[in-house]
Amino acid sequence: MIRTMMRPGGGVSLRRRLVWQFILLSAVLVAGLAFTVGWVADRASRASQDAVLGAAVTAVADGIRSVDDGLELELPYGTFSMLGAMGEERIFYAVRVDGDPATGYDDLPMPPMPPEGLVPVFWSTDFRDARLRLASVSRSLLIEDRARQVVVTLGQTRHGQAAIARDTARSAAWAAAAFMALALPVALLAAGAVLGPIRRLAQVVAARGPRDLRPVRHQTPRELQPLLRSINGLIARLRAALEMTETFIFEAAHRIRTPLSLVRTEAELALSETDDPATAARLRRIVRAVGESSRSANQILDHAMVLYRSDQFAAGPLDIAAIVQEVVRATAPIAEMREIEVTTEGLALPVQMHGDARMFEIALRNLMDNALKYTPSEGHVHVAIRPSRTELRIEVLDDGRGIEGDPAALVARFRRGGNVGDTGGSGLGLTIVSEVAAAHGGRLIVAPRETGGTCAALSFPWA
Ligand SMILES: Nc1ncnc2c1ncn2[C@@H]1O[C@H](COP(=O)(O)OP(=O)(O)OP(=O)(O)O)[C@@H](O)[C@H]1O
Ligand SMILES: [Mg+2]
Repeated sequence: MIRTMMRPGGGVSLRRRLVWQFILLSAVLVAGLAFTVGWVADRASRASQDAVLGAAVTAVADGIRSVDDGLELELPYGTFSMLGAMGEERIFYAVRVDGDPATGYDDLPMPPMPPEGLVPVFWSTDFRDARLRLASVSRSLLIEDRARQVVVTLGQTRHGQAAIARDTARSAAWAAAAFMALALPVALLAAGAVLGPIRRLAQVVAARGPRDLRPVRHQTPRELQPLLRSINGLIARLRAALEMTETFIFEAAHRIRTPLSLVRTEAELALSETDDPATAARLRRIVRAVGESSRSANQILDHAMVLYRSDQFAAGPLDIAAIVQEVVRATAPIAEMREIEVTTEGLALPVQMHGDARMFEIALRNLMDNALKYTPSEGHVHVAIRPSRTELRIEVLDDGRGIEGDPAALVARFRRGGNVGDTGGSGLGLTIVSEVAAAHGGRLIVAPRETGGTCAALSFPWA
């Protein structure tokens, strides 16, 4: 019975299925062959024995002569000894004249149909506790001037032949067992040969880099061509979907940011022109809400961008010190506005890394943004690159309000701390930073500083 073998992973093993089918098929073939060999051998030996028996009965019939006072029978003992050649056989004979027993065993059964002349009639029957094979011939003889029908019957046991048949069957069974023993390794080999091309195709596909969306060009047997075509079709669709995502991200960024900043500018203008305190308060709420919306939109788009770029990882050599410096420079106006002093360390010399510069820029901007956002005026933010023998750390230290609770929990999407008060934000910043770190084989560590404030560090092992 073929069982469907399920692996813990849920897949059916093709290899096992092939091996089982091969073994079952071989078993059926081998059993059929063994049976056929036994049957053919039995038939052949039976036929040759019948020929000897037929010759013997004819020889006996030939030895009957009509004499004055009846019949004279000369038994050909040489022929009889041939009948026993295959083993200890018992031999019976009977001669009947016009149906009446003349000599031999009177009770030896008569042939099922009367023989015609010297062409022997063969049949089998039980006689005196033995299975006999019998042959009969007939002759017409002139006995006492009358034509009489003489029927000669000769019977023999076939113990020798049965023993030979058993021997042949046993040999055939042994040969079958030997073939079956061979069937397992042959089945494993055959399954390996069939599955080899599939395995090689899987290796070729698995060995590709995550960004490699070129069609798979691999020599496969004709039967695997449909699979290869589907893989390539899938890759093409994936490439198209990714290109669409990229276009969508940039278009959405453009279409959301531009009108939002326009609304904000207009509201600020109106705010500067109004004298009515109620209108001014309302306009301030609008400016704030629009500011929040545009921040959220920016964060969501940056998040999408980071996810997209993690998939399409476009790594290259980069100078992380230059990127940090650029982010510090870009956030300087906010620091200035909030009267926060920003100091740096380790940015003077280039620090070479391998990665996606745009992703690093987004991550560092978020860390700087947090440090400046959660630090009160006249606070201090320190940005440092610290290469050690085993890792490269980029640290953003502040002496602000510090984090509350488990810092690891703050990495979750849209999760904001209990310390935010009325500081705006969407809770995506640290999610983005940790995704950038993970895409580069590093990690984000957020921890309270002993002196108060927060230390947010990106750590990358040296490749
Ligand atoms: N330097 C920091 N000092 C104090 N708390 C911080 C600091 N950085 C992060 N946090 C806490 O971690 C939370 C999550 O930070 P995250 O940057 O993900 O979100 P956010 O700053 O609230 O919003 P977003 O960055 O999306 O505008 C913050 O809400 C804040 O509670
Ligand atoms: Mg943030």
